[in-house]
Amino acid sequence: MKTDTPKQIYLKDYAPPAFLISETYLDVVLDPAETRVKSRLSVVPNPALKRRATEIKLDGELLRLLRVCIDGAPVDEQRLVATDKDLTIRDVPAKPFTLEIETICDPAANKALSGLYLSRGVYCTQCEAEGFRRITYYLDRPDVLSKFRVRIEGVKPDTPVLLSNGNLVQTGDLPGKRHFAVWEDPFPKPSYLFALVAGKLAMVEDSIMTRSGRAVTLRIYVEPGKEDRCDWAMKSLKRAMRWDEDRFGLEYDLDMFMIVAVSDFNMGAMENKGLNVFNDALILARPDTATDSDYERIEGVIAHEYFHNWTGNRVTCRDWFQLCLKEGLTVFRDQEFTADQRSAVVKRIEDVRWLRSMQFTEDAGPLAHPVRPSSFIEINNFYTRTVYNKGAELCRMLQTVLGRDGFRKGLDLYFDRHDGQAVTVEDFVSALGDANGADLSAYLLWYNQAGTPTLDARLSYSEGAKEARLTLSQTFPDLPGQPKRKAVPIPVKLGLLGPNGGEIPLEVEGKPVDGGLVVLSKKKEVFTFEKVGSRPVLSLLRDFSAPVNLNAGARDKDMLTLIRADTDLFNRWQNAQAFALKHIVALASANAKGENARVEPRFVAAVGEVADDDTLEHAYRAAFLALPSESDVALAIGENVDPEAIHQARTLLRAAMGKSLRAILESVYERSAPAEPYNPDAESAGRRALRQSALSLLAAGKSRFGIARVKEQAKTATNMTESFGALSILSQVGGEAYDQALQRFHRRWKDEPLVINKWFALQASSPSPDTLARVADLVANPLFSIQNPNRVRSVYGAFAHGNQVRFNDASGAGYDLIANAVIEIDGFNPQMASRLVGAFESWRIFEPKRRALAGKALGRILDRKELSPDVFEIVSKIVG
Ligand code: PHE
Ligand code: ZN
Repeated sequence: MKTDTPKQIYLKDYAPPAFLISETYLDVVLDPAETRVKSRLSVVPNPALKRRATEIKLDGELLRLLRVCIDGAPVDEQRLVATDKDLTIRDVPAKPFTLEIETICDPAANKALSGLYLSRGVYCTQCEAEGFRRITYYLDRPDVLSKFRVRIEGVKPDTPVLLSNGNLVQTGDLPGKRHFAVWEDPFPKPSYLFALVAGKLAMVEDSIMTRSGRAVTLRIYVEPGKEDRCDWAMKSLKRAMRWDEDRFGLEYDLDMFMIVAVSDFNMGAMENKGLNVFNDALILARPDTATDSDYERIEGVIAHEYFHNWTGNRVTCRDWFQLCLKEGLTVFRDQEFTADQRSAVVKRIEDVRWLRSMQFTEDAGPLAHPVRPSSFIEINNFYTRTVYNKGAELCRMLQTVLGRDGFRKGLDLYFDRHDGQAVTVEDFVSALGDANGADLSAYLLWYNQAGTPTLDARLSYSEGAKEARLTLSQTFPDLPGQPKRKAVPIPVKLGLLGPNGGEIPLEVEGKPVDGGLVVLSKKKEVFTFEKVGSRPVLSLLRDFSAPVNLNAGARDKDMLTLIRADTDLFNRWQNAQAFALKHIVALASANAKGENARVEPRFVAAVGEVADDDTLEHAYRAAFLALPSESDVALAIGENVDPEAIHQARTLLRAAMGKSLRAILESVYERSAPAEPYNPDAESAGRRALRQSALSLLAAGKSRFGIARVKEQAKTATNMTESFGALSILSQVGGEAYDQALQRFHRRWKDEPLVINKWFALQASSPSPDTLARVADLVANPLFSIQNPNRVRSVYGAFAHGNQVRFNDASGAGYDLIANAVIEIDGFNPQMASRLVGAFESWRIFEPKRRALAGKALGRILDRKELSPDVFEIVSKIVG
């Protein structure tokens, strides 16, 4: 907790470790304030290095050092140098030796939730990225892989369950109501994958037979009383395990796979070997407490963590700069899983919507960084939208180029070559290339350059030659602090539509264009399509085949044709979004100038047709009805943004849609009811989503039918999706009905933290002017706790990240509220604080008055003497 000299760490400075640790034995004696850890490490000088080191430097933080022995003999004080972040031992043997260290740590005082801490009385650990060093002195870096054996001892009534990675090899009772368990993990792993859990936990068990016929026991541990909410997580896990066998030939490798749900967790979940630890919000689900989106997220995150067993654990990262190697690839894998479980096109739409809105914003602002960054102060600040989601897009792009089978062959080779190793992005790209006889090295540029490229497209048609000439070119935006960037290979999936909407076969130089895919590999290139009988409409960047900003300069008329008639469902949506975005920007600009704005009836009619089309999936139609968010519009405007004008423009368009589509929306609502009882599957969830979108627009258009249905649904719904859906629509309507519904909801759910999080988040994200006062009340509510990350996310997070008008309130009160919260939270949980302060990343795009107020709030944070490196790094970049 000090700002003195936050040190930059550079990728170019990577050096292999001087020592390896072949085996790690830990003996952990649990105690809330004084947990004693004895380690016994088999240390080996790194054989790959020529020069023998004479001293070993171990990472360690917040530890009380009791004793150090080498080969059984105590090391005297003169040979030890301990600082607040490491321990150096001088004159170590030049051959393998045994290092024993005894330390004490304090889980009860650990509110940073990194290392060993207590969550509602349950001991748990979080070691990624650099938390293991808060448990014991160690070579806490991902390229040191070791076999772990762990003995845990505790008071039996307090900690009846004792868990660590791998297989349980021994248990026993001890005098004084104490007991112990010994776990052994046969797979060498880096320390960030270590986990220990101990406490009073209930357990749900199941099993699965792997495809090679090994039985695996599956266990989910939760707070006693919550066993009835693990069903979905367990089912999702089994489906994920099966899917990874089918799609990638990857099988689970231990006899047991365990998941533990805890209430205090900084992130979503963690892939510790054989012992995943989850934020309980991503495990617990029952129809009356969890929404359809909760169910979908649980399924996706369970899969994500499970998939890490191969992409991350069996093959891990050489250093933290390579984080995308495991995260980008694993996100890509979980996206593919969900696409197969549900609707591929709807999943792609959800992912692209999120990417454009969240990652493109990051990539266009002061926090922009390459998918593989070249430097950082605090690695925890790099678990970003860019590393995860742009990283996933790069894997997808490689799959698009190689084809599914080629990509699979590439991954097979990657595992053949690198199982048990800690590797780099180059190793990954080489394996994909080598397996396919392809040189993919140009794609490395995508990993090393920040910023979203813009893809320009111009189509011209020659009647005489019957040719359509497509000129593609790329540019990078100006980004402060980013060097000049080189042209990247951009795979572009496309189609040409004939006059009746039919697909024209693509032919270049007499050959068909495979899969409609061309690759722009220079700054500018022309593709000439032959035998095109009449002027075509261009359907570009199908599937979002590359993460670029598209500038197709399409005419409204052509866009409307694509919305109605593109054979590619993704592109119908993409064009509708682009149209809506352009339209809201125009409405907002008219609004800001005090001019009268006219809603485009042709657009509204086209959307209505899709909503009404029963041949399309319900979830797809629901996605179609969702307009770009207010922050999407702000990003598109890019400068001197007035968030009020955007809010009003978007509200105006929604109201107009609700009014002119009233008959369609009412009918869609009536005929889309899902079958009872509640089922979280994609088909039923899609029906509910479509009904929710319809009701929400109807309410925006002040339909009596709509408002009556909402009020009724808020009272009678028997599942959380419909109950919370109604409450959210009422929050737009406001008034007494809303207040009463809020109170009813609170009374019913006040003892269910996960449900109350929704109640908090809804109020914090309301655009209503009284929200600032409400948020002040919410954080004073006894159900709120600033130490619990889920609570912080549901109030401060929802407000700062999800409420553009009120966070950017003209008074500056929104900025002050968040700045104060950041300062307070930074005092005990820097990771949480630094995520929250990221909400300021777009402050420079707003109009001058707001900019000045945001700048003042940021300055106030930066002026603090006691600032964590985490928050310092983010704020200093944002301020620039
Ligand atoms: N590695 C986790 C994942 O699956 C995320 C995480 C990072 C969790 C750091 C905790 C701490 O994405
Ligand atoms: Zn992950």
